[in-house]
Amino acid sequence: TQPLRLGIAGLGTVGVGVVKIIRQQAALLTARTGREIVISAVSARSRGKDRGVALSGYDWEDDPVVLARRDDVDVFIELMGGSDGPAKAATEAALAAGKDVVTANKAMLAMHGQALAESAEAAGRVIRFEAAVAGGIPVIKALTEGLAGNQITRVMGVMNGSCNYILTRMESAGLSYEQVFDEANGLGYLEADPELDVGGIDAGHKLSLLSAIAFGTQVDFDGVELEGIGRIKIEDIRQAADMGYRIKLLGVAQMTGRGLEQRMSPCLVPADSPLGQLEGGTNMVVLEGDAVGQIVLRGAGAGEGPTASAVMGDVCDIARGFRLCMFGQPAATLKVAPSARSTLP
Ligand code: HSE
Repeated sequence: TQPLRLGIAGLGTVGVGVVKIIRQQAALLTARTGREIVISAVSARSRGKDRGVALSGYDWEDDPVVLARRDDVDVFIELMGGSDGPAKAATEAALAAGKDVVTANKAMLAMHGQALAESAEAAGRVIRFEAAVAGGIPVIKALTEGLAGNQITRVMGVMNGSCNYILTRMESAGLSYEQVFDEANGLGYLEADPELDVGGIDAGHKLSLLSAIAFGTQVDFDGVELEGIGRIKIEDIRQAADMGYRIKLLGVAQMTGRGLEQRMSPCLVPADSPLGQLEGGTNMVVLEGDAVGQIVLRGAGAGEGPTASAVMGDVCDIARGFRLCMFGQPAATLKVAPSARSTLP
């Protein structure tokens, strides 16, 4: 069998994690997939930087679009981020050139995932994105593979670790939103544009991807009713605690008789429920299917190892020849006003 040859664009935290797994687990990856997985070339903004992993053995491309089209690249790994710009241009170039794509880019997929998936399908290629939703938690695989025999009835989750960190830290330290926001930003926990996190947008991107997969609909980020955590006061958290609840930035997606309901908003969840016990920067996704009932997945939603783990799961699927189509048909969108006082249904 031929080796599976990768081109990796973006050598930040996740890209470096992917290179490390490929270097350190080569034998395991080959044993699991029956193919050698090799890196042909890489691309990143700054070339000379010490990233703590040897990169000298790989060809270097300055332009990710050129990398995406190289003849010795079978799978283009997009880890640059950003909904448009180079990430989208290179992803489109890769699909047009007949490459499969693996990406961690939730913003790009929420905005353009439908069109990209259609381009992939037209080209007979796949675009896979386990790492885009809830980092290391294999929630897309759970939905598409393990729960394939179920009608999914509801998907819920805490999908932004930064917001969960802020809310749990406000509670445990008795600090204001503003104090904890500054602290989290100083520690580098927030996205370059923190509004993506605290405005619920990043989590909304992830929910829109999960609901499209769960309900076989088109990706509809505009259909997500969004409310961030910026207006949560320490008094709200205390009052919730007095009643036996905690406040979580919770995503809920369900198909109703009138259409797809998607909302990402601060919710009261019972303190003794799995969601209510979630601390710090962790993620949790709750999946409900007609046959399986409820399952709860919990783990790291960000970081080098967890996100690279999800990328490599997709790479291994492609190496094994899995050719899964992710999204489906358009659905009616049901608009529901989010409310900071809403309780977990
Ligand atoms: N800002 C995101 C989070 C990073 O806090 O969950 C992972 O997508």
